[in-house]
Amino acid sequence: MCGIVAYLGEQEALPIVLKGLKRLEYRGYDSAGVALIKDNNLLVYKKKGKVTELEGYLTDKITTGSIGMGHTRWATHGEPNDINAHPHYSSDGRLALIHNGIIENYASIKQELLRKGHLFEGQTDSEVFIHFIEQIQKENQCSLFEAVRVALNEVVGAYAIVVMCADDPNQLLAARKSSPLVIGIGKDRKEFWLASDATPIIEYTNEVVYLEDQQIAVMQKGNLEIKDIGNVVNTPYVQYLDLTLDAIEKGGFDSFMLKEIFEQPESVLNCLRGRLIADQNHLQLGGISQYADKLLNAKRIIILGCGTSWHAGLVAEYIFEELARIPVEVEYASEFRYRNPVIYADDAVIAISQSGETADTLAAIGLAKSKGATIFGVCNVVGSSISRATHEGAYTHAGPEIGVASTKAFTAQVTVLLMMALMIAKKRGTVSDSQFSELLYELESVPEKIAKTLKTNALVEDIAKIYKNASNMIYAGRGFNFPVALEGALKLKEISYIHAEGYPAAEMKHGPIALIDEEMPVVFIAIKDSSYEKIVSNMQEIKARRGRVIAIVNEGDTFIATIADHVIEIPSTYEILTPLLTVIPLQLLAYHIAVMRGCNVDQPRNLAKSVTVE
Ligand code: G6P
Repeated sequence: MCGIVAYLGEQEALPIVLKGLKRLEYRGYDSAGVALIKDNNLLVYKKKGKVTELEGYLTDKITTGSIGMGHTRWATHGEPNDINAHPHYSSDGRLALIHNGIIENYASIKQELLRKGHLFEGQTDSEVFIHFIEQIQKENQCSLFEAVRVALNEVVGAYAIVVMCADDPNQLLAARKSSPLVIGIGKDRKEFWLASDATPIIEYTNEVVYLEDQQIAVMQKGNLEIKDIGNVVNTPYVQYLDLTLDAIEKGGFDSFMLKEIFEQPESVLNCLRGRLIADQNHLQLGGISQYADKLLNAKRIIILGCGTSWHAGLVAEYIFEELARIPVEVEYASEFRYRNPVIYADDAVIAISQSGETADTLAAIGLAKSKGATIFGVCNVVGSSISRATHEGAYTHAGPEIGVASTKAFTAQVTVLLMMALMIAKKRGTVSDSQFSELLYELESVPEKIAKTLKTNALVEDIAKIYKNASNMIYAGRGFNFPVALEGALKLKEISYIHAEGYPAAEMKHGPIALIDEEMPVVFIAIKDSSYEKIVSNMQEIKARRGRVIAIVNEGDTFIATIADHVIEIPSTYEILTPLLTVIPLQLLAYHIAVMRGCNVDQPRNLAKSVTVE
């Protein structure tokens, strides 16, 4: 995790760095720090807490200069405090480093450096990293670039780093492996911005280079040079982004999360745009072409993901098996990568990730790839590591998701997965032409139905008032909506810190029903689908034990209203598409409860948006 930002150019660096850090706080917010160079001296300021605390601390400090870098931390090694905050500097105070990632062999390097007389202030692997570079430079009497290059050949782990040297206020060095790093390029290469993603950069330039694994970039005013760690010159691959700043600001909502929940009619529409045109019977995912046959003829599909993306994968399991009749296994990427899984060359793997940077998912892809499987990515962040590690894929086009708890990414992922399944089902002949066409029309109407579902917001807020002090909550669903129950529970846990569990409704009687009393709210997804009668029975079992029932039902369902304590009505759609609607009130419920409990919904404690460590 961690967010890094740097600037070299003609403007004051500090305001650019601080603004960038605020945009990257979703990556971690345990501490923040900056480094600047003034009169060939390194100025390093760092503080535990958020960027605003650092800003306050900087008010009486010297902060001028046109080179600078900053870091916002999500702690991995060493507790979050001022000392462990980045930037870290060398023994002689001439070199500074910011780092996102983990150096796995830092302990042995530290031992060696201690033996050579280095002293360390904190406990981080990153402090060891900069001392290591310093030591190499001293021993080899070489350039800073060469010292960094040699160090990178020695370290094991993940890194995105930026290094500055007090003796050279006209130079920034950056490198990456497994952690993201983007370089923004100004006019005539006289200015450079560096960041963990493009959001701190796009207001200045849309010309960017995504640094590749094991590349080192040297930026000097007027010049950008990239080499790999073997010292071979690489030509920078310049891309042009069309992200707008508007897309990443709160747009009048109190939080990013609420904005993102309300963006779902549009984000799902964007996801469908150009890919699905119902009245032309057209469905095409441009990103899946060369390897489409691998998916079509796969004996098995393995879906990998973490968190909410894993839940989208579970929904996809039901969808693919129903439509395409291909067996599907859904795996937590973190388990898959370490359990010696059986993978065949004719397996198709679908890796789902909003950020495209989740370390476990990336490693699981590497494993499946090494066994010959074909990997398809479903990512939101364009140019992200996962999107580049896969053979092919389809972007979700949901726009930047800043709230740590994933919302619009989930519906966009399910939408892409639905389109993938429909595409291959059609080719495999496992859906009839009329079924296919009807599903296209219905999927096309989903954005409008999501907009209608969002009208339940005021009602959901009223229900949230009643249950905001609950200590536990259960979510129950069946079939396509069992994973939605898991997702509803996850949302509540993540942002309100209320303990919540999702279950397949029929499993309640195998244990969880023992928890039911008048204090236990149970949220049922009870729409009119093939399990409706069964779920009504499950609901009766809860009511018989005095549980409190909140039911998500279809418009006009007067029957459940006679059983449940509260009903939230949503529009009807085909059973296979219902997760796109049923999840919406659950997102809103978690949101309102969390706000009423005074929680920071965008940056819940202990969590980070992009988990780039395992
Ligand atoms: C973190 C986030 C979750 C997200 C998960 C997977 O835990 O807080 O919201 O679902 O990572 O992230 P990915 O970017 O791979 O979808």
